[in-house]
Amino acid sequence: MNFHPEEKWIDWVDQLSMNDFVVIDDFLPAQLYTQVRNFLLHKLEEDEFDRAGIGSSANKLKDTSIRGDFTYWIDKDRDQSLSEAFGVIEEAKDVLNRFCFLSLSGFEFHLAYYPEGTFYKRHVDQFKERSNRMISMIIYLNEGWKKGDGGELKIFKEDEELIIDPIARRCVMFKSAEVPHEVMQTNVGRYSLTGWMLYQPSGVGFVLG
Ligand code: OGA
Ligand code: NI
Repeated sequence: MNFHPEEKWIDWVDQLSMNDFVVIDDFLPAQLYTQVRNFLLHKLEEDEFDRAGIGSSANKLKDTSIRGDFTYWIDKDRDQSLSEAFGVIEEAKDVLNRFCFLSLSGFEFHLAYYPEGTFYKRHVDQFKERSNRMISMIIYLNEGWKKGDGGELKIFKEDEELIIDPIARRCVMFKSAEVPHEVMQTNVGRYSLTGWMLYQPSGVGFVLG
């Protein structure tokens, strides 16, 4: 199943290759948005989220002065009610491979929850020990987000700073190694589906160092 027509994808990947990032509104279909958001709220209620760390799995630091979010890594086999969401992710991966010649072989995604008062300081999405994250992809799940709620994504481009509001169903993609960014302090609970397109399965990438 295709969620978006090819001509739209071509426009988006064009922007991504020219500007290193792209912002796509209404990316997640409304009913799929509700499904993913409800899944997230349910997992939160069941206490299935972990405090996020910094760095790769073997070398993880948990420091809330750098990042304060909680994550739930989604798994295609375990989380079968998210199969449509995995469909969108697969479509993005296939399109990037086809139009950007990226030879992506997999992806890793988590649901993220930033409690009120938390943030993620400026960083890039590649670890020193593991550099197989090619494209970062974030889909926001913040119902009725408004100015003052905070939690904007700030992207650093040369001497410019771009502020992106984390509004529901919006998708942001950027080149993981090229784009420094931060999550500004949020004043309300902030929700997203966030992940990375990989050019090797993460386990293998890590072993090969
Ligand atoms: C990240 C990140 C940005 C966002 O998880 O690495 O930078 O807007 N997320 O949630
Ligand atoms: Ni990041």
